[in-house]
Amino acid sequence: MTEEQQPMLREEVLAGPGDSADGVVIRTATGNDLDAVVRVGHQTWQATYEPIAGAEYVAMGLAKWWTTDAVIPSIRVGRTLVAERDGEVVAMAAYGTQGDDLVLWKLYVLPEHHGHGIGRRLLAAVIDRGIELGHTRLVVSHVDGNEQGNRFYERNGFRTTDREAGGSGMPDTIWMVKDLTLQGESTEGTQP
Ligand SMILES: CC(C)(COP(=O)(O)OP(=O)(O)OC[C@H]1O[C@@H](n2cnc3c(N)ncnc32)[C@H](O)[C@@H]1OP(=O)(O)O)[C@@H](O)C(=O)NCCC(=O)NCCS
Repeated sequence: MTEEQQPMLREEVLAGPGDSADGVVIRTATGNDLDAVVRVGHQTWQATYEPIAGAEYVAMGLAKWWTTDAVIPSIRVGRTLVAERDGEVVAMAAYGTQGDDLVLWKLYVLPEHHGHGIGRRLLAAVIDRGIELGHTRLVVSHVDGNEQGNRFYERNGFRTTDREAGGSGMPDTIWMVKDLTLQGESTEGTQP
């Protein structure tokens, strides 16, 4: 490998198998991950939101946010991350900006891979990106009634700031924020 090639590789893999005992790799998604990202979204949405918000809500969300056309732009600009376990994409995160804030738009781990620290590692990678970009706040939202999501974010140092009414039978959206300037302290302070 030439010296010119090395920096690209280092940017691509954000946390490699050498960083964890279970060999999970966190990396920037590429076009080759398109189908896997959509699959993670579809499987996780179904399992998470159908019991909370019903089949109609799931169908609406999948059509709006989880088509290939909907996920391509974020992959193109390098703002989608994936977690790979044993060579299979098992989770994804996508972020963007809103004013000065970094926003975590999507964080989805396939149900059978929950509870292994994969969500936490994807979140940490997004936080690292946000800090590198100079953001001081990370904003997330989740569907009201998603207790697993709410608990995950609380454990990771987010506090609730707002409730947005769903209307027309749709569930409310809960907005949360994490202060990235406290990152060193709050990560330690939120370990279970
Ligand atoms: C919320 C979600 C992203 C969390 O992902 P996850 O990979 O299960 O999360 P983690 O494993 O990092 O953390 C979950 C728990 O496992 C624990 N854990 C188990 N093994 C671990 C390990 N090896 N390293 C770190 N934590 C570990 C964590 O401490 C945490 O415990 P806690 O709930 O008592 O705080 C995932 O449950 C999910 O995709 N849910 C459905 C979709 C969703 O709600 N998305 C977020 C809202 S948009």
